[in-house]
Amino acid sequence: MPQKLQCCLYHSELDPEALVVCVPDILKEARRFNKAHQITGLLMFDGHRFAQYIEGPPDIVELLIDKLYNDPRHANFTQQYNALRTCDRLFPSWSMAYVLLEGDNPLRVITSLRGDLAMKKLEKMVPDLNFD
Ligand SMILES: Cc1cc2nc3c(=O)[nH]c(=O)nc-3n(C[C@H](O)[C@H](O)[C@H](O)COP(=O)(O)O)c2cc1C
Repeated sequence: MPQKLQCCLYHSELDPEALVVCVPDILKEARRFNKAHQITGLLMFDGHRFAQYIEGPPDIVELLIDKLYNDPRHANFTQQYNALRTCDRLFPSWSMAYVLLEGDNPLRVITSLRGDLAMKKLEKMVPDLNFD
């Protein structure tokens, strides 16, 4: 059943001062908070770049965006899409799905897109992703 959801997609880069080993901690922290606050979504990482999609109640998503913007573990936070939509969740059963991408991967393309084009590309990518 469609709901009013704030949907946000951004990309960023692992901060040069941060280590790749911080990613499991980020995921653990994210899943705990998101589960408690009706947030679902996807985190993609290729060893250097992140792209994350978050969907949930508007006030919580805005609060989370603020935390993300200020998190020193990543840099160059670039918001690609942020809109209130009446839609079904893209990740109804994932407090934060995770994909580690290797080699020439779709992050190169998706991080170059903005607005509806970025969102459409994400929707198209989802069925081909093996997340856990
Ligand atoms: C790439 C990346 C993705 C993150 N995703 C989430 C998330 O989905 N949910 C979440 O609660 N925290 C996430 N975090 C962690 C937040 O930025 C922040 O550290 C956390 O919410 C705790 O903030 P607080 O100490 O101000 O409460 C993420 C951090 C990074 C670097």
